[in-house]
Amino acid sequence: MAPWFAIPFDMRELRHLFANNHAWAGKIRAEDPEFFEKLCHQQVPHYFWIGCSDSRVPANQITGLLPGEMFVHRNVANVVASADLNCLSALQFAVDVLKVRHVIVCGHYGCSGVRTVLRGERLGLVDHWLRHVQEVHARHSAQLAGLGDETRAFDRLCELNVIEQVSNVCKAATVQDAWSRGQPLAVHGWIYAVSDGLLRDLGLCVTSPQELAPAYQAAVKG
Ligand code: CO
Repeated sequence: MAPWFAIPFDMRELRHLFANNHAWAGKIRAEDPEFFEKLCHQQVPHYFWIGCSDSRVPANQITGLLPGEMFVHRNVANVVASADLNCLSALQFAVDVLKVRHVIVCGHYGCSGVRTVLRGERLGLVDHWLRHVQEVHARHSAQLAGLGDETRAFDRLCELNVIEQVSNVCKAATVQDAWSRGQPLAVHGWIYAVSDGLLRDLGLCVTSPQELAPAYQAAVKG
């Protein structure tokens, strides 16, 4: 086994990332000298993004938003699970404290987590997490089987996973309570294509408890 001091120096310092950061902050300050000072006083994002951890889907970059404009939660395969205190806490903070107007669940085509489920592969610990996607797969197995080839089933499972997670957001107590007290809140289902850098609206937008069932049914039908 190599001794600890054999690790290359740059592994400890990651100087290029600090250099990038310096350049980035300088560029922002050149456009707006008070940008960071203003951000210190408050964040008033209108959007809460729930997306995949995938490095190819950086929420702020693909929506052209600056720091301070979007509250973000990401996990493997953009799952909203009813027992996940992490995601539900972020949702509650976004809705109750920041008073965001939009919750965006954004999946992406080519999601490795979704593919793992579709192919029944084993990766290790993360398989436990992906059980949530497995439930989506099981619920829509007839539709997926009817698509024939694996590419179409893969794309569709990525979409259906977004639709189910939108439904989970809508059923969360935080969102139900916000709607019952009349707080304006829209929950959106989007999907991103790594292949062209473009977002697609899945046509699923829920703004009240009554809208959920019909909107969900229509989205699942496709
Ligand atoms: Co993914």
